[in-house]
Amino acid sequence: MILDIINFILIVIAIIAEYYFIYVFFIKSKRGKYPPFVPTTKKVVNEIVKIISEYLENNSQMNIAELGCGDARIICKLADKFSNHKFIGYEWDKFPYFLAKIRCKKRKNVSVYRQDFMKADYTKTNFAILFTGNEIAKELSQKLASEMPKGSIIISECFELPKLKCINEVNTDKKNYFFLPAKIFIYTIE
Ligand SMILES: C[S@@+](CC[C@H](N)C(=O)[O-])C[C@H]1O[C@@H](n2cnc3c(N)ncnc32)[C@H](O)[C@@H]1O
Repeated sequence: MILDIINFILIVIAIIAEYYFIYVFFIKSKRGKYPPFVPTTKKVVNEIVKIISEYLENNSQMNIAELGCGDARIICKLADKFSNHKFIGYEWDKFPYFLAKIRCKKRKNVSVYRQDFMKADYTKTNFAILFTGNEIAKELSQKLASEMPKGSIIISECFELPKLKCINEVNTDKKNYFFLPAKIFIYTIE
């Protein structure tokens, strides 16, 4: 009897996981146009935090946005280190958004919105962090270039952004999920 119940629960979990996988990777992502929830590995998060810290250390209050923040592992780590800066995460997928809300609950300098990052306003954002994809790179670059103030910094994990001025490329020797190269591109708004 107990085994039957456990089997039933496992089958239900497997069905939900399968449905979620199909929904996230094919439907919500519009067949790969928008990035699905692929979290950054711990080692790569540490590497990103190290790079971003160099910029945040020497500045007073900045507005930092993460476009597609997943479970907010990057912004929460940064928020703990830099209480003088404000962090905003945009995430449209219910599951990572839920995880992000739990993670950010006690952090006063972090806000997470369940919103399409292509529709957000970046006119007051001085720093953007993203891990998106090639299909929206052009459209997103144009949006950020037209909205973010001059001198703002954009950190893009794995993917290049056309039409923006690249000021540095960091080749981390760390591994990311799905064999994505953990290369970090740093851009500025001219
Ligand atoms: C590759 S994951 C990155 C997750 C997180 N930044 C990390 O490094 O762990 C991309 C995230 O962006 C979210 N996303 C994709 N398109 C989006 C959109 N248009 N608006 C808001 N979130 C989006 C996905 O749901 C996913 O969680």
